[in-house]
Amino acid sequence: MCGIVGYVGSGDAVSVLVEGLARLEYRGYDSAGVAVQNGGGVETRKLAGRIAGLRELLARRPIHGHCGIGHTRWATHGAPTERNAHPHIDCAGTLALVHNGIIENADVLRKRLEQDGHRFGTETDTETLVHLIEESPGATLEERVIAALNHVEGTYGVAVVAEADPGKIVVARRGSPVLLGVGDGEYLVASDASAVLGHTRSVVYLNDGDVAVVTAEGYRVLDRDAREQERAVDDIEWDLDAIALGGYPHFMLKEICEQAETVRSTLRGRLLVAEGTARLNGLNLTAEQCAAIRRIVIVACGTSWHAGLVGRHVLEELVGIPVSVEYASEYRYRRQLQLPGTVTIAISQSGETADTLEALRAARAAGSTVLGLVNVVGSTIAREADGGIYLHAGPEIGVASTKAFTSQVVALLLLGLYLGRQRGLDAEQGRRLVSQLVRLPELVERALAVEPQVRALAERYADARNALYLGRGANFPVALEGALKLKEISYIHAEGYPAAEMKHGPIALIDENMPVVCLAPKDPVYTKVVSNMQEVKARGGRIIAITSEGNGDLSKLADHQVAVPASPPLIAPVLTVIPLQLLAYHIAVLRGCDVDRPRNLAKSVTVE
Ligand code: AGP
Repeated sequence: MCGIVGYVGSGDAVSVLVEGLARLEYRGYDSAGVAVQNGGGVETRKLAGRIAGLRELLARRPIHGHCGIGHTRWATHGAPTERNAHPHIDCAGTLALVHNGIIENADVLRKRLEQDGHRFGTETDTETLVHLIEESPGATLEERVIAALNHVEGTYGVAVVAEADPGKIVVARRGSPVLLGVGDGEYLVASDASAVLGHTRSVVYLNDGDVAVVTAEGYRVLDRDAREQERAVDDIEWDLDAIALGGYPHFMLKEICEQAETVRSTLRGRLLVAEGTARLNGLNLTAEQCAAIRRIVIVACGTSWHAGLVGRHVLEELVGIPVSVEYASEYRYRRQLQLPGTVTIAISQSGETADTLEALRAARAAGSTVLGLVNVVGSTIAREADGGIYLHAGPEIGVASTKAFTSQVVALLLLGLYLGRQRGLDAEQGRRLVSQLVRLPELVERALAVEPQVRALAERYADARNALYLGRGANFPVALEGALKLKEISYIHAEGYPAAEMKHGPIALIDENMPVVCLAPKDPVYTKVVSNMQEVKARGGRIIAITSEGNGDLSKLADHQVAVPASPPLIAPVLTVIPLQLLAYHIAVLRGCDVDRPRNLAKSVTVE
């Protein structure tokens, strides 16, 4: 998903735009570009590749102005080339536009526009927008943009500048996040807050259907009929340090290593020790509503879906309600069989994942109460849900999600505790879980101490071509998560499987070249996992066992053992995932992969 920025003020627009794009690069890094008004017209500079390359290009061929827009791309339509890079310009070269999203009826529009004589220079869906605006009626740029968007199907966060409208940026949103940064005599536009933090902490989140007109004097928000709209100004709670590397070589390692603090932050102010329950003010559920819940449906994608699978164990165990966990992208197109008393929980780090957002909307349309379990404050899922839980894990910049996963599991434990205490979990059981959660940050700290051992393991397996991850119960999703981490940053093919399921097929893959990571903490299914490890051993597989501290009886079976602090089964996934995050990280570094910007990926998937 792309990142868009805009700036208008008295400063040098280009330096502000490039600084903002650098902060948004985790959203997409296939190509980049800027366009500025320089009093004589609109000038653009763009290239295939990273923001660093754009900086060099601008150093060689500088452009200047006080008003401009910029873009960093995750290619959806048209290869990641300079030609397809944004900004896109109209036939006359007087309009420039950047876009995040997908124009679904681009082919139809393009055909008509070409018949009307427009000349297209790219393979992108986006270019249709700039030609549409070029030919749309209207005395002002905002009138022309509104007229053009009335023909568009799909999603967009779009920003436009025009030679005829100096000192003005017109912005529009449907489906893709856009916010305005409210500065002192200067205004910014961005896909997320990290791009404006260097200038202001005051932001205005645009809603779907909003069109904003931004000048150095201020901004106006209009609806589709050009009527003025009121939008609140919010304050961002974190600062630039939170999105700085802080001396780490990669954001991913920083985010793995700060998990004791981020878990502490997710728990902060939410544990009621004496009452043995949790305080979740943002949930917006009355005691009656809690009592009336008959079914919980979790919708999510990727790592968040894995956290949802752990959440099923937690909620079924603590609350005693059936829980189903759905791939949001599949769920949204299935027939909605909504039973009364259904609560749907959308889990999303970014709060902007299109499939999860649409699954939430589908569940609501079918009569479900919808909750959000989200990290990014003010994101669309957070604003559209009836209530929810913020993770407070701080910005997650590394594309491979790590600290969000552990905080998602902790938030689900808090939700299980809260609902459980409303539905029969007694105070003693509640107090026991509270005391276990109070100790959790310190256990995470101790689990992180395995890093040197895991780094040595990574050297042993960095050349692996495949890997298998096995787990049972709440650790099966951890196996899936470990495999996903390795896949997405080291490009090694890896699969996670329920340990018992291995016999029904994947065991055929096992030989002396196959590293098999087995999650074997001391829990009620431990002996079952040990039997599965014996099956792997019998086929010559290389076993890396993730087990509990003090568990000495795997030395004969496992080639390598990594021990994390012992903990109750429902809490264990927060600890057992850490060696897997580190293993993927160190293997990727040893293979020379771009850990924070893995190929073909982006941090939040705002298109279908
Ligand atoms: C995980 O490392 C990936 N970045 C990806 O699978 C991610 O979890 C997924 O896109 C969901 O994102 P969300 O939590 O922001 O909705």
